[in-house]
Amino acid sequence: MNARPRVFIARRLPGGDAVGSPLARVRDAAEVDLWADDAPPAPDALRAHGAACDGLLTMLTDRVDGALLDACPRVRVVANLAVGYDNIDVPACTERGVLVTNTPGVLTDTTADMTWALLMAAARRLPEGERAVRDGEWGPWHPTWMLGHRVTGATLGIVGPGRIGAGVARRARAFEMRVLYHGRREVPDFPGEFAPLDQLLAESDYVSVHTPLTPETAGMCDTAFFARMQPRAIFINTSRGGVVDQAALTQALHDGVIGGAGLDVTSPEPLPPDDPLLAAPRLVIAPHLGSATDETRTKMAHLAVDGLLAGLAGERPTHLVNPEALAVRGRR
Ligand code: DGY
Repeated sequence: MNARPRVFIARRLPGGDAVGSPLARVRDAAEVDLWADDAPPAPDALRAHGAACDGLLTMLTDRVDGALLDACPRVRVVANLAVGYDNIDVPACTERGVLVTNTPGVLTDTTADMTWALLMAAARRLPEGERAVRDGEWGPWHPTWMLGHRVTGATLGIVGPGRIGAGVARRARAFEMRVLYHGRREVPDFPGEFAPLDQLLAESDYVSVHTPLTPETAGMCDTAFFARMQPRAIFINTSRGGVVDQAALTQALHDGVIGGAGLDVTSPEPLPPDDPLLAAPRLVIAPHLGSATDETRTKMAHLAVDGLLAGLAGERPTHLVNPEALAVRGRR
């Protein structure tokens, strides 16, 4: 009889540990080495724990590269508890026949909701207003204080028309907005109008970025990008901090090149409290909360477990990022 597989789970999982929970499902099928801390394992701890494992369930903070895989030669599946997988060197996994899975779909609405929370908060200056109340700066009502920008009827530009971008665009309908989108190609049925990037940046009151972080998108929101936006326009990013040249964004906010920003992601994360970005005006910022609801994180954990268990069982996982790895694995 085959020994039960062994897996390393790189953080406590949402959903508890009762029967049927994500953690219990893994325990039913495998020996579990659980990293019970909320802080990520350091790279050497990840290597040490993964060395005797057949599968890894990782977070977006855990770097999986060739060196780690070489130290963990038994690993045949890496299930990432995130839709983004820029923390994983996918070609290095593929070369070694290691399957990589992610958790798309279940976080689309939650992340689109968060994008809107940032957009509304930045448009209507909610954090500034709240600070004014708490700091005793709330004087008698007068008609020119703390003026924001309209949302209803404005133009929204979506850069990266994937699932989350489409979710944000669908919500814009309720605000009677014109929606432009830009991506590598036109997307049939996308709830908006395809536009070249220049046109989108020039015409949008809100520009919201939803691209994955890849070598092509790294730092793509730079000085030239912000210069092409309208001076009143608000920049929103709920994708990855790395798509933004943060120094350029900081400067654009200070110089009034753009009207404000709403960020859920930065580079690095966590952002040190003395980072120059935090001194920029008209900035609304959240600590990577895009998918952070109880329901969504539990669904993400179940999906990650589905990927992990399918990979361990020699099946093709539903959300397999690198199907080419199956062929490599078949040759071994
Ligand atoms: C993801 O899944 O990639 C998100 O960033 C998590 O919120």
